[in-house]
Amino acid sequence: MEQTLAIIKPDGVSAGYIGEIIKRIENEGFKIIAMKMEHLDDRKAEGFYYVHKQKPFFSSLLEYMTSGSIVIMVLQGQNMVEKWRKLMGTTNPDDADKGTIRGDMGTDIERNVVHGSDSKDNAVYEINYFFKGNEIF
Ligand code: RTP
Ligand code: MG
Repeated sequence: MEQTLAIIKPDGVSAGYIGEIIKRIENEGFKIIAMKMEHLDDRKAEGFYYVHKQKPFFSSLLEYMTSGSIVIMVLQGQNMVEKWRKLMGTTNPDDADKGTIRGDMGTDIERNVVHGSDSKDNAVYEINYFFKGNEIF
C-alpha cells in the first residue's frame, strides 16, 4: 500500500468540480484517508512548491495557488503515486487524454485543476506538510 497527496486547485474548486473529482477517485477504488480545505497564503504555497523556486513560472504559480481555496486529500492504494498521476493526466491539459481529470476539466498548463505527488519520497514530504498523524484515517 502506498499513499500520495492530491490537491483540487483553486480553478477546480471555483468551477464546482470537487464532487466530480471525488467521484472519479472513488470509482477507481482509491481510498481517501484524509481531507481538508485550506486557502494558502504566499508562505505556505512557497514552502509547498519550493522545488520550483527557480522556474520562470514560480511567481505566477504562487498567485494562482493562493487565489482561492483548495481541497487537500491523502489517497491510499497500490502504486498510488503513479495511479493518481495517470488519472490526473499530463501537466498541460492540451496534451492530456480525454477521460483524465486535466484532459476533461483543465484550462491551460498552469490552471490544470489538480496536483499529485511525483514520487514516493515527495509524497511523504507533502503529506506531512499538510496533515498531522491524527488527521489521517
Ligand atoms: P503538480 O506538481 O501540480 O502535480 O503538477 P505537475 O507535476 O504535473 O507539474 P510541475 O512541473 O510539477 O509544475 C507544477 C505546477 O506549476 C504550474 N506550471 N505552470 N506556466 C508554466 O509553464 C507552468 N508549468 C507548470 C502547473 O500548475 C503545474 O501543475
Ligand atoms: Mg509536480
